[in-house]
Amino acid sequence: MRHNRTVMVAANWKMNLKVGEASRFMHRLEEKIAIRQNVECVLAPNFLALQPISVNLDRRKFRLASQDGFYNDFGAYTGEVSMAMLHDIVHYSIIGHSDRRHKFNESDDVLAKKVQAAIRNDIIPILCVGETLQERLANETHHVLHRQLSSDTLNITSREMSVMVIAYEPVWAIGTGKTPTPEEAQEAMAFIRKQIKDLHGDRAAKYARILYGGSVKPDNARTFMELKDCDGVLVGGASLDSDQFASIHNTAYKIAQMKDL
Ligand code: PGA
Repeated sequence: MRHNRTVMVAANWKMNLKVGEASRFMHRLEEKIAIRQNVECVLAPNFLALQPISVNLDRRKFRLASQDGFYNDFGAYTGEVSMAMLHDIVHYSIIGHSDRRHKFNESDDVLAKKVQAAIRNDIIPILCVGETLQERLANETHHVLHRQLSSDTLNITSREMSVMVIAYEPVWAIGTGKTPTPEEAQEAMAFIRKQIKDLHGDRAAKYARILYGGSVKPDNARTFMELKDCDGVLVGGASLDSDQFASIHNTAYKIAQMKDL
């Protein structure tokens, strides 16, 4: 039987690459990445680079995501870019990345509004959740994941939830080279799927995709993508190296073939 959750490999370029550099990098990736029906490859450039990249993008290979998006559609919100403005340009929007939660103090209240705004504008949220090191050491991981998932997906229907993507990103693993053990990662992702089931029902839990993120590299990508509840990876640092990212994409293709059997 065909696996219903297409494997996703997403590149979060964060605040890197100027407009010209981002376009050149995208073309370099394009040369290294093959068209794979059963792998969805998502690029998240900065806001400025999104538009020019969207014009030249090979849509057989890539889809675009924004790294954020404001919850009101238009108005006096100087400096913001709304989901309404992103509607024609991106398929996905990363919401609640740990940079946003911890460096910009975005609350679950704000993130719930962003999730709703994305859906209202036909953009699929890639909602990031995950505990800090302090929270993990205090045995609060489940509590944190429950709080983030229940607050941030407030007022989302089961149908909407079933197309959403949740990225499990332990904050202590982001950009640090440290990673959870496969058992720890699987345990957290299984807990996330159980939360989705409790909050939004069986169907949502069956179809929503869960990604792992945090120091994903070519040599550990397989370990995470093989896990039962893992449907792909969200990659930061290694997504800025075209060889590394292409290698992770290739691993995803092998995993997709394996899971489809
Ligand atoms: P990293 O970043 O791969 O550099 O750890 C992951 C992320 O922030 O999404």
